[in-house]
Amino acid sequence: MSALLKTENVKAYYGKAEILSGVNVEVDRKEVVTILGPNGAGKTTLIKSILGLVKSTGRVIFDGREISKLKPYERVRLGIGVCPEGRGLFPNMTVEDNLLLAGNDLDLAYEMFPKLKERRNQLVKYMSGGEQQMVAIARAIISKPKILILDEPSMGLAPKVLNEIAEVLSELKDMFSILIVEQNAKFALKFADRGYVLVKGRIVKEFEGDVDVERLYFT
Ligand SMILES: Nc1ncnc2c1ncn2[C@@H]1O[C@H](COP(=O)(O)OP(=O)(O)OP(=O)(O)O)[C@@H](O)[C@H]1O
Ligand SMILES: [Mg+2]
Repeated sequence: MSALLKTENVKAYYGKAEILSGVNVEVDRKEVVTILGPNGAGKTTLIKSILGLVKSTGRVIFDGREISKLKPYERVRLGIGVCPEGRGLFPNMTVEDNLLLAGNDLDLAYEMFPKLKERRNQLVKYMSGGEQQMVAIARAIISKPKILILDEPSMGLAPKVLNEIAEVLSELKDMFSILIVEQNAKFALKFADRGYVLVKGRIVKEFEGDVDVERLYFT
């Protein structure tokens, strides 16, 4: 069966600067794939290319159709859930109001994140960094997407909190295909099946199964 998500020779530009130089990656159904890479490698730009948020060429195929010419909202509606870099939450709104922005059915989100149900009337700005990350992940699954795309969920979080997030993502693995971009290889490799290393807009390595983080290191 063909991949759920696939990029073919994707190049992306900011003005004249070429940020991605022909990226080919794919995610199969029920697979967790990570894209690792240092600061400025183009990880966020790759996600933006998949979503249609940046000028790019090449093809993006999702769920059996080419989506490269579709508008961002049309792509997302086909079944893409996104947890953006920096979380993209509304700090002065409650947890529940942030979740309701993504849809009315909060059952799955509260089932996966019972702590958020308890804190649903709390303003997001009074939640810890880890809790805020949980809100952002919960919001991304409300539309029951076919794929969940996460942009550096580890950012700014302490190791103990990272373990909690890793546990949650391991549970979500059974329900969704996941694409996760990360600088923190050790974190991503806790639950990823497979991955790629992106450096300066190019895939320089592909790996599968158990890998030695030290040997992957790219900085
Ligand atoms: N809006 C923009 N305009 C111009 N250049 C940009 C823009 N956004 C990103 N860039 C440049 O594109 C390159 C890739 O950036 P990108 O944000 O995709 O990297 P990243 O791998 O996500 O890095 P990080 O791990 O720091 O989030 C960098 O050199 C960055 O400076
Ligand atoms: Mg980024």
